[in-house]
Amino acid sequence: MRGGSGFLFDKSADYLNMLESSHQNLAMVTCTAPVNIAVVKYWGKRNEDLILPINSSLSVTLHQEQLKTTTTIACSRSFQQDRIWLNGKEEDISCPRLQSCLQEIRRLARKRRNTGDPTSDISVVSHKVHICSVNNFPTAAGLASSAAGYACLVYTLSQLFGVEGELSTVARQGSGSACRSLYGGFVQWKMGERSDGKDSIAEQVESESYWPELRVLILVVSAEQKSVGSTSGMHTSVETSQLLKYRADVVVPCRMVEMIRVIRQRDFPAFGELTMKDSNQFHATCLDTYPPIFYLNNVSHRIISLVHRYNQFYGETRVAYTFDAGPNAVIYTLQEHVPEFVQVVRHFFPSEANGSEFVRGLPACSADLSEELKRDLNMEPTPKGIHYIISTKAGPGPCVVEDPNHHLLGVDGLPKKNEVSD
Ligand code: DP6
Repeated sequence: MRGGSGFLFDKSADYLNMLESSHQNLAMVTCTAPVNIAVVKYWGKRNEDLILPINSSLSVTLHQEQLKTTTTIACSRSFQQDRIWLNGKEEDISCPRLQSCLQEIRRLARKRRNTGDPTSDISVVSHKVHICSVNNFPTAAGLASSAAGYACLVYTLSQLFGVEGELSTVARQGSGSACRSLYGGFVQWKMGERSDGKDSIAEQVESESYWPELRVLILVVSAEQKSVGSTSGMHTSVETSQLLKYRADVVVPCRMVEMIRVIRQRDFPAFGELTMKDSNQFHATCLDTYPPIFYLNNVSHRIISLVHRYNQFYGETRVAYTFDAGPNAVIYTLQEHVPEFVQVVRHFFPSEANGSEFVRGLPACSADLSEELKRDLNMEPTPKGIHYIISTKAGPGPCVVEDPNHHLLGVDGLPKKNEVSD
């Protein structure tokens, strides 16, 4: 894999020619992109078509070894129409957000030709594309996959068409949070002021190697029902919640400055406290929405209590939770606290899964819990409340996959057999 932050690629005509296989003049590129989890949440749009937010936001990009989208895009003059397969199933390409991303990248690619760039082989831009995309994590886990999905789509298209430079304004038009998945590490999405959205862009605050001790545990909670989607949820919040307006106008501008400062200082207690307060305020705006939206369930509430009791036991913030538009908890902590906290979760949310099934991803060594800690946490266990934990850390932005064996499309431009289901 080749790291891709910065988006300055040598996309020469030779390179594209090399990609053109002898079959049907097929050009093909495969890339991967990460999931991100916000610590200052985006909630609310001021322009729904361009996906312009009412507040800035900040996230941590998660490592692709645990969570990623892989996308292969091929183009050929023999393709009759644009087509897309997601997680093994052909989907409707006419979805407006997909169309926005496709049109925008093709526009940028043509613009490049018009500026007379001698290295651009632009004939491919007029060809139809076949897109095939898969996640390495189960959709059933309820983790937002649209951010990684759109980031991967836009990044892969840019590689195929030789588009360089600012891509976050394009990914943003697929899904707002997707713009932050174009960079690794700590990423802010500046809301911008312009009505055309040109200044509503993502920027890396610090790279993934800046805070190596930081760890992320995703507690996959059992959800009984499907929750309200982010897009419709935030629409209703903008229409009805006064608290959301106060949050966007007054709270978030200061919180962004503060969050960047504590990340740069690697100050975990301050980072954790801000993260939890921001998650709580986001869910408070959901409750202030009319009719109210509930994303947290009983298990989520129990995790919140457990985190506060645990921190209180030690007299400092050692672990912090955040929740998006669903009941799963994402825990930020430091490497040294992972073994004990995982054991705390196991103790209070006993599962039938054995050790390696319950904790997936980065290994967590086992720890013993003192009787004093168990007594002080003072909670009734909730059996099977948590399906499993994904243990991960901050990771890099999108990458190009060089090995052609990893293409999801075959030389006929159709999904390879194992990538498609009927
Ligand atoms: C709660 O980016 O999924 O995860 O722009 O409508 O596609 P659209 O919404 P989306 O919203 C994400 C909301 C969030 C907070 C965040 O990631 O900042």
